[in-house]
Amino acid sequence: MKTGWIGDVLSGDLDHQSVELKGWVHRSRGSNKMRFVVLRDSTGTIQCVVKRDVVGDEMFEDVKSALIESSLIFRGNVLPTDREHGHEIQVESVEIVGPVNPETPYPITQSVMDVDNLSENAFLLDNRHLYLRTERMTQMLKIRSSVFGAIHQYFRNHDFIEYQAPNFVAGAVEGGSTLFEVPYFPTEENPDRKAYLTQSWQLYAEAAMPALERLYTIAPSFRAEKSRTTRHLSEFWHAEMEIAWAGNNDVMEHGEAVVRKIAQTVLDEREKELSSLGRDLELITRYADNPYPRIRYDEAVETLQKMGVEIEWGQDLDYSKEKILTQDFEVPHFLTHYPKVAKPFYHRVDPDDEKYVLCHDLLAPEGYGEIIGGGERTWSEDEILKRIDEEGTPREPYQFYIDVRTYGGVPHGGFGLGVDRVCAWLAGADHIREVIPFPRDSRRVYP
Ligand code: 4AD
Ligand code: MG
Repeated sequence: MKTGWIGDVLSGDLDHQSVELKGWVHRSRGSNKMRFVVLRDSTGTIQCVVKRDVVGDEMFEDVKSALIESSLIFRGNVLPTDREHGHEIQVESVEIVGPVNPETPYPITQSVMDVDNLSENAFLLDNRHLYLRTERMTQMLKIRSSVFGAIHQYFRNHDFIEYQAPNFVAGAVEGGSTLFEVPYFPTEENPDRKAYLTQSWQLYAEAAMPALERLYTIAPSFRAEKSRTTRHLSEFWHAEMEIAWAGNNDVMEHGEAVVRKIAQTVLDEREKELSSLGRDLELITRYADNPYPRIRYDEAVETLQKMGVEIEWGQDLDYSKEKILTQDFEVPHFLTHYPKVAKPFYHRVDPDDEKYVLCHDLLAPEGYGEIIGGGERTWSEDEILKRIDEEGTPREPYQFYIDVRTYGGVPHGGFGLGVDRVCAWLAGADHIREVIPFPRDSRRVYP
């Protein structure tokens, strides 16, 4: 007898063979003589037919009392049928492993799942640890895994070195307003010593750029985002890269290529999950195949103004504006050359026009908006000191960063990609929460 996955049974490979299936009770109904148990494992669900006269009284009573989400092992024969799953198991023996107590039945019932807005439902958020078992979450998490895999593959296939930076840091990368402060081992000189949770791996990656030249990571980043939107988490997964001897265009080439690779990988690996979530595969094929246009910030502002959106030159685009702008995009678009005033000090000023910086955001279509932020770095010592002073930022926490320029600075650049945002976009999720197992936002750190 073979231990099998339900997915293998459904594929027809195990027809007329005897198998052992390990899983959880998804549904159960029947009479005193015969039970129909729909069993679930990580690969699918299948109907298992249990007859009293085959398994005997004791096992039959066990099955009858096995409530939803009880774990068990069935042994039996695989039969092709013309019913719902195309196959069923004629059960010969059963072993209950983790029975559910009838006094505390599984709380996520069909009526709970029938609510309108699953991602906003407080009961499901409180029971996130159980909600993970639903078909919808399982599909999201499988797509997510493929997205992570594709990013690793892309960078490793292009000779990037995976590199880790600290998560406790002394200064901001992306501005002070979203910094998480942590008390950090008080000393006599500094009884209020604080550290911050990193917003980005970038500054520490730049320090290793002269050593490794091409580096990347996938790691959590932290932002104390007060505004609650469908695309902000306070802990998100950040895929970042840094590359030496490169300018803004070189970095964009990699950004486009990695996003296309992700789209192709989810098509190759997760077609079934995407279809079952109602995702249009033609859209994703387009994201994998077609080139991503590049437009300047100024053009985007003009377009928005023509659409009647109130926006002043110099403002960063917030979500509401990106949403309008990207609604009719057929593929992701790069927005380049943002005004210097809209971006942090590390962005290199455009030598052709000092009002702008050599940077880019990649905006996903269908209203999803920014998925990548990146660009060329301010790489000479003079320029970085000037930019830090202009911003009124203290030099001290950035001394190591300045040193990277003092000792053999070279042109370089990089980007950060919001992995959860990419997952939400490709899966067609209406909230970023839908694609991460335990979402963290300003209201929630439990479960
Ligand atoms: O645009 P951001 O702030 O850029 C940086 O952090 C750079 N230091 C990255 C780099 O050049 N190495 O963030 C990069 C991306 C955004 O485009 C977005 O996709 C994602 O990170 N992101 C978030 N995702 C979820 N929740 C949040 N609160 C996010 N903040 C940023
Ligand atoms: Mg950004």
